[in-house]
Amino acid sequence: MVRILTKYWDEKDSHRIDVELRYGGYESAKKALSLEPYEVIEEVKRAKLRGRGGAGFPTGQKWSFIKNDNKPHYLVVNADEGEPGTFKDRYIMERSPHMLIEGMIIASYAIRAEMAFVYIRGEFQKAYERMKLALEEAMDRGLIGDSVLGSKYKLKIVIIRGAGAYICGEETALIESIEGKPGRPRLRPPFPAVSGLYSNPTIVNNVETIALVPSIFEFGAEKFLSFGTPTDGGTKLFCVSGHVKRPGLYELPMGTNLKEIIFEHAGGIISDGRLKAVLPGGSSTPIISAEECDVNMDFDCMKGVGSMLGSGAIIVMDDRTCMVKALKSLLEFYAEESCGQCTPCREGCPWIYKITKRIENGTAEFKDIDLLLDVAENIMGNTICPLGDAAALPTISIVNKFRDEFEEHIRRKGCYFDNLPLAPVLEGRSMV
Ligand SMILES: Cc1cc2nc3c(=O)[nH]c(=O)nc-3n(C[C@H](O)[C@H](O)[C@H](O)COP(=O)(O)O)c2cc1C
Ligand code: SF4
Repeated sequence: MVRILTKYWDEKDSHRIDVELRYGGYESAKKALSLEPYEVIEEVKRAKLRGRGGAGFPTGQKWSFIKNDNKPHYLVVNADEGEPGTFKDRYIMERSPHMLIEGMIIASYAIRAEMAFVYIRGEFQKAYERMKLALEEAMDRGLIGDSVLGSKYKLKIVIIRGAGAYICGEETALIESIEGKPGRPRLRPPFPAVSGLYSNPTIVNNVETIALVPSIFEFGAEKFLSFGTPTDGGTKLFCVSGHVKRPGLYELPMGTNLKEIIFEHAGGIISDGRLKAVLPGGSSTPIISAEECDVNMDFDCMKGVGSMLGSGAIIVMDDRTCMVKALKSLLEFYAEESCGQCTPCREGCPWIYKITKRIENGTAEFKDIDLLLDVAENIMGNTICPLGDAAALPTISIVNKFRDEFEEHIRRKGCYFDNLPLAPVLEGRSMV
């Protein structure tokens, strides 16, 4: 099985420049710098690399939105990694920071940026220290700076540290935060590629996206594409958490079957329980039931089951999981993290949290279930940024797929999962 991002993570000091160079580090950047910027973009397009930050936008296409004008251009690497269940970008920065720096050189050159930023989540102390050390090593060896790899191209890379707000992972809030303002998303258009950081053309990409770029030039676009599916090139880092025997980070071909990930790679369900449901791409993605898990983990196939690949954070729930409690826990997070700019999100997120809490503690009425759905549906699509949708989507899917559990909580006036050694298998629902 091909390993791109994790290929030398078992090596001692894998974050140091000597290990990186031993594994052919910065050779891809040399190749890319010998091409014209538009040729670099074409190669990335041919590789069908899609953004690993959540939306799966084609990376080469995004870069091609940058016009060849005289304005300063910026590359911003989104290392905020706040999506619950996601723990991949942190490991890239801790274990192979030079892969990210090499990707930044190639991406910055392609969009004609001479300044690039890495916006690192505030809590990531080790990742910050390793990125800082890697940048110093790269500067000392002339890999970045006034003459990148001995060429006429110059590039400065700056690290910015976040301050713990989930919303600062949203690309326009992140840009505001770099500018020193509170992290509040901007209305689009204009999109960052037209007017982003300091009103200049800016590309924001996820850490994993950029760290994959050197391998496109190492293997060639066709080979890179063959590591994934015909529409999504490359490998994917899957973050598996929850009720599995071997939770962890797995680098697998894009499009690997979800059941294979859960039952083979992650060892199956703990204590020989049964699989009940999965949040396949982080807490913001619609839930899928056990019966729907025979699906390939790529952007298009996940759409086919009404969910999303998101950040590749697979949160596995066994049959002892109370879905009302699980939803309550998710919604508490979104209610807390709303930036408060738009009414449907500011008011709606705490509202759906409170309704779910009432259902869970046994003080709700049957009509509250429809009220919960109604409020969630009215948040959807009515906000400046997708944080509102991120709260509404799992809510709607969890209520629709597990409505019987919500009704049972109201009937029994509280959570009945706590009192049972094993969660009840409600009539009519099969489990894998
Ligand atoms: C509330 C919210 C939080 C987000 N958090 C992150 C994040 O932590 N990291 C990330 O890469 N993208 C995050 N995104 C997506 C970014 O806005 C953006 O789409 C992404 O960084 C683009 O990179 P890509 O094209 O490489 O996927 C978030 C989006 C929203 C709405
Ligand atoms: S949807 Fe929520 S987080 Fe996004 S801008 Fe509106 S209030 Fe802020």
